[in-house]
Amino acid sequence: MKQLWGSRFSKELSETANNFNSSLRFDKRLSKYDIEGSIAHAEMLSLQGIITEEEKTLIIKGLKEIIEDIKGGKINFECDLEDIHTLVEKILTEKIGDTGKKLHTARSRNDQVAVDIRMYVKEEIQEIKRELIELIKVLLSIAKEHKDTIMPGYTHLQRAQPITFAHHIGAYIEMFKRDTERIKDTYKRVNILPLGAGALATSPYNIDRYKTAEILGFDDICLNSIDAVSDRDFVIETISDLSMIMMHTSRFCEEIILWSSREYQFIKIDDGYSTGSSLMPQKKNPDIAELIRGKTGRVYGALVSILTTMKSLPLAYNKDMQEDKEPLFDAIDTVKDSLFIIPEIIKTMEVNKEKMINACREGFLNATDAADYLVKKGVPFRDAHKDAGRAVKYCIENEKTLDTMEISEYKKINKLFEEDIYKYIDIKKSVESRRVIGGPSKEAVEKVLKINEKWVKENE
Ligand code: ARG
Repeated sequence: MKQLWGSRFSKELSETANNFNSSLRFDKRLSKYDIEGSIAHAEMLSLQGIITEEEKTLIIKGLKEIIEDIKGGKINFECDLEDIHTLVEKILTEKIGDTGKKLHTARSRNDQVAVDIRMYVKEEIQEIKRELIELIKVLLSIAKEHKDTIMPGYTHLQRAQPITFAHHIGAYIEMFKRDTERIKDTYKRVNILPLGAGALATSPYNIDRYKTAEILGFDDICLNSIDAVSDRDFVIETISDLSMIMMHTSRFCEEIILWSSREYQFIKIDDGYSTGSSLMPQKKNPDIAELIRGKTGRVYGALVSILTTMKSLPLAYNKDMQEDKEPLFDAIDTVKDSLFIIPEIIKTMEVNKEKMINACREGFLNATDAADYLVKKGVPFRDAHKDAGRAVKYCIENEKTLDTMEISEYKKINKLFEEDIYKYIDIKKSVESRRVIGGPSKEAVEKVLKINEKWVKENE
């Protein structure tokens, strides 16, 4: 019988059922963690006198050889075994004989798979964190370069108030900082050892779970053996963090796509990150940014998939939970690929400052400043808002802007308007007047940039 549990059965699992049941084609990715977990387990078993020192040495030697065999491409994963745990144990026993069969003492594949996934997620979280910090660094350098680059800020995708490119980029820095903090926080809950829980009720051996935790670098152990093998909330939490990263990334990509369009022309994407059309010779398409935007759907899909798999499952382990891996792996791969490429796109893009400031000249972005001008002269904001609105309406009807409207025309709306209105509604002045921390003025942006540079140093 090729199954670990075969002796209770009088017949082999049918070939179709075996193929359907097997997770080896995807959980082979966990081999490294499976073996590291087994090495730690064997060490603990020997420290506790459950296996002898010699048996431990033999087991560990065999397991280390398997690591080398995998690296050397000597392991055939295309076999008909049930999962990676079965495969590693089979190879180990072939290598070292019956001692290999002792490794599974005080362990079940239920706690084994749980520890493998946690180890895998721990490592990937570190990698994703590194990528997020790299992205934040690139954004910081772009922000530093564009503290004076004025562009329209939008609400409802309508020009609203002037801001700077640095300030706009700064919004994404905050989002990716929170994403980094979120994933770091998730790490704390992933870093808890389920091993020792056995199938669901631990084991009668005098195992030392804290020792295994120490060897494997886990902060603590799961305090309930049923919980240890039956929950996958740490997978859900991780994919939820990843979904948030993709949500932010997709918004950024959407803006890159918009800004690079003929309609905006705020940026030019480097040719190295654009594609052409097989039909229209003139086309330059932002495929890479679009793909990242599109891949967001996959990650959300992974989240919904695992949430649905876990819904209503009775305690403890159920085979349904084998379905946690593929969405998890796919979400992690997708986020890593996206985070890897996005800094390259933004590092190489060209920013058209002229187009950005020119876009501020139409659309009455300084109308709020005209209202604020009157407020400074003692007019209640509500009335000032009405007068500025009337000025905008007058401009639209007479094809003027707030800057080209005569002072006599202003005075017809409110006598309090004086010559200094033109200075007050100047676009650059509008940005510079917003010195409140968190705002777009150079002064405010510089303060925040400093805070964020410190944040990067502390989180790197
Ligand atoms: N391949 C299984 C999974 O991924 C491993 C655990 C199997 N446990 C069991 N009781 N059948 O969940």
